[in-house]
Amino acid sequence: MTLPFNTLIPIERPSHLPVYIQVSNGLVNLIRDGKITPGTFLPGTREMAELLSIHRKTTINAYDELAAQGWIEALPRKGFRVVPDLPIVKPRTFKPKNNFPAAPAILPELLALPALVRPGAVSAYSEDDLVVDDGFPDTQLTPYSSFLQLYRQQLQLGQPQKAWLNKDEGGLMHLRSSSAGFLNQTRGLNITEERLMITRGAQMAIYITAALLIRPGDNVIVSEPNYFMADHIFQSMGAVIHRVPVDQEGMDTDRLAALLQTGSFRLLYVIPHHHHPTTVTMSSARRMHLLNLIKQHQLWVIEDDYDYDFHYRNNPILPLASAEHEGRIIYIGSYTKLLGPSFRIGYLVAARQIVEQAIKYRRLMDIRGDFMMESALATLIDNGALGRHIKRSKKIYATRMELAAGLIAGTLPHAIHFNKPQGGMALWLKFREDYPLARILAKAPSRKLHLTGSAYFEGHNSDYNSLRFGFASLPADQLKNAITTLAAVIAGS
Ligand SMILES: Cc1ncc(COP(=O)(O)O)c(C=O)c1O
Repeated sequence: MTLPFNTLIPIERPSHLPVYIQVSNGLVNLIRDGKITPGTFLPGTREMAELLSIHRKTTINAYDELAAQGWIEALPRKGFRVVPDLPIVKPRTFKPKNNFPAAPAILPELLALPALVRPGAVSAYSEDDLVVDDGFPDTQLTPYSSFLQLYRQQLQLGQPQKAWLNKDEGGLMHLRSSSAGFLNQTRGLNITEERLMITRGAQMAIYITAALLIRPGDNVIVSEPNYFMADHIFQSMGAVIHRVPVDQEGMDTDRLAALLQTGSFRLLYVIPHHHHPTTVTMSSARRMHLLNLIKQHQLWVIEDDYDYDFHYRNNPILPLASAEHEGRIIYIGSYTKLLGPSFRIGYLVAARQIVEQAIKYRRLMDIRGDFMMESALATLIDNGALGRHIKRSKKIYATRMELAAGLIAGTLPHAIHFNKPQGGMALWLKFREDYPLARILAKAPSRKLHLTGSAYFEGHNSDYNSLRFGFASLPADQLKNAITTLAAVIAGS
């Protein structure tokens, strides 16, 4: 059988290598790879010339070269044969090599990470599909034109980034300082830029803080239920997780106090403002109690305040970090919940030395942030555009929350229980026992409804049978449609 030499030996013209060398090198590779085995006769020089569409003289030169190198030998009246006793590799098949097998031998030693996407969740939807998310902003409201204008201006400047490259490792200094001002005004903090670093979203901020503080075997306290992605971070670092229940006033601080008596605890992770997943806002009494416990037990605390700005009942409640806490609280927030999931910018606020270490740690995984985006965002903070965007979005989201809450309470009281939250971007819907969430989630897509919010119904969460229903990103008609469709799914389940 003649091999497809024309594809196996590609000839480049022009090339710095003469064609006869390209042919002889190509043949050597085929012999080395075992595709031409020792003892095999090569096609005659005329046939090979035709196969490769080259001059016969070139083939003769290539074969002479191979013979001179000891790869082939000329047998009188028989032709050219690959030397039979070449010490070469076993023959291989023509299947393309797969250097990345599914399960390399190292696999058992790798960190076993859980799949974070719900089985059956799809990532591609068609135009008319309705997607209810976890509580994301409506990107139709995002001030894209302002971003566009600022981007364009920066690109027109040529290489504005040059000035940024070797400094500003904790995020563009301009954004660090504008963010510090923004947080001072909106959250009662009293910080300057060296107490704040920029991250790619709150998620990275939680990860970095955990990496700095947690060592394998450390006891870490979280709420029950908890933001599952934070659980996974702590567990991946070898933490032993202890869970304190959340009720209508937030984390039960009496239970926390009792737990703290039982041993030594390294870190407490709390989400006091709009708890994830339950949406509960922690009461003032519990906040005071919590602050006392933090001081008394010298706890390190991550305060995750991922969607602070959207509070509807009254003014937002100031974060724990705005009170006196001896630098033990690391305050984490995000711009992604203001602008949209693809704007990956968040921040971490902490004591200066913690911020310095966090900046060094960040560089191990991400040399620097997206300075173009960070610069544009800083300008939008400075010129008040971000503030106006928040004000406008907040009004719209408050109306959407009322609409969603009213419709669900009015049409589905037999199937769903929930408490209207004081803020945030999602409702925490508890489905009654007769309506197992696994069934609802599986059936909804057949009616073009995709419920993609965090769902707590499996494993240690199986008693919750609850789902986050993001209302903020859906205009009124889509919200109505989603809830009517959900009612139909429930009725048919
Ligand atoms: C409680 C909580 N913390 C952190 C994050 C991560 O936020 P980001 O998108 O800014 O990384 C989320 C995302 O939904 C969240 O719900």
